[in-house]
Amino acid sequence: MRALSGIQPSGRLHLGNYFGMMRPALELQDRAETFLFIADYHALTTVHNAAELREAIRNVALDFLACGLDPERTVFYRQSDVPEVCELAWLLSTVTPMGLLERCHSYKDKVARGIPASHALFAYPVLMAADILAVQADVVPVGRDQKQHVEVTRDIAEKFNREFGPVFKIPEPLIREDVAVVPGIDGQKMSKSYGNTLDLFGDPAETRRRIMRIVTDSRTVEEPKDPDRCNVFALYRLVATEEERRQMEARYRAGGIGYAEVKRALADRLEAYFEPMRRRREELASNPQRVDEVLRRGAERARAVIRQTLGAARRAVGLD
Ligand code: ADP
Ligand code: TRP
Repeated sequence: MRALSGIQPSGRLHLGNYFGMMRPALELQDRAETFLFIADYHALTTVHNAAELREAIRNVALDFLACGLDPERTVFYRQSDVPEVCELAWLLSTVTPMGLLERCHSYKDKVARGIPASHALFAYPVLMAADILAVQADVVPVGRDQKQHVEVTRDIAEKFNREFGPVFKIPEPLIREDVAVVPGIDGQKMSKSYGNTLDLFGDPAETRRRIMRIVTDSRTVEEPKDPDRCNVFALYRLVATEEERRQMEARYRAGGIGYAEVKRALADRLEAYFEPMRRRREELASNPQRVDEVLRRGAERARAVIRQTLGAARRAVGLD
């Protein structure tokens, strides 16, 4: 089985990214041939500042390696080191109906938020399809908000295969329903565009202050509470052990615990959970050559696979 996922370098990674995409993708390292990449061509649809983009690419690379990406087992690369995906995107765009892209929520949401409606923003799902189909991925671990893009990828692959012959494997999205949407501190989906994030490797004091601001209902300490409707608990359960989660659940239902206490427990647990990764990140940050070498080697491995697919696609359409 082959798995592929990517993430845009367009800001600091947060808990939604970690539990929605990174951890599920990293867990696959043991069971699948895993490809993970930094979607820097995609980031150019919103980031138009070279220094900022370079910095974000470096941060994503460090974050993934710190969080347990093993570059021996996983092919880890920068999308722009494999420009063949752009050529494949062009071939795919010739079978992509306009209507399919016009229906994409992500495009409509971004335009509604004021991002200029460029051609690249509109064609974003076609490039994403090229990323996935180029490595012939079976599964694509992503958060729920990316499901539609994987469905678009399937449609494009099926259409291409019908018109030109069986070149592409049809991929499946892999969505962990237990963490499909991680809430932000305001209760909406955690997202960098909503300013409601808890960053993976943010300043711990700042993270603690933000946790204390998480929106809750106004039940008093004594009142019983419903853990399933509480944003603080939704985050706590991600970083607590099974036993801690059960105890906290029971205390919610019994009453006698206030939200301030749960928030402090969440901050403590969160800090402990990411502490080993934070240390590893600091170590890696002091060795930039090692990170460059990992990405160089990853691009070489990815390129070997992607060139084969591109060759087959070119032959299928008559560009031998
Ligand atoms: P953002 O919403 O902050 O811009 P991205 O759209 O770049 O995040 O998402 C990168 C990856 O992280 C995607 O696979 C996405 O599904 C996942 N993801 C982002 N936010 C969340 C969340 N709140 N809950 C679950 N998964 C998420
Ligand atoms: N669109 C994805 C996101 O915003 C990033 C991405 C680009 C991706 N290409 C991909 C994810 C291929 C999975 C597979 O999060």
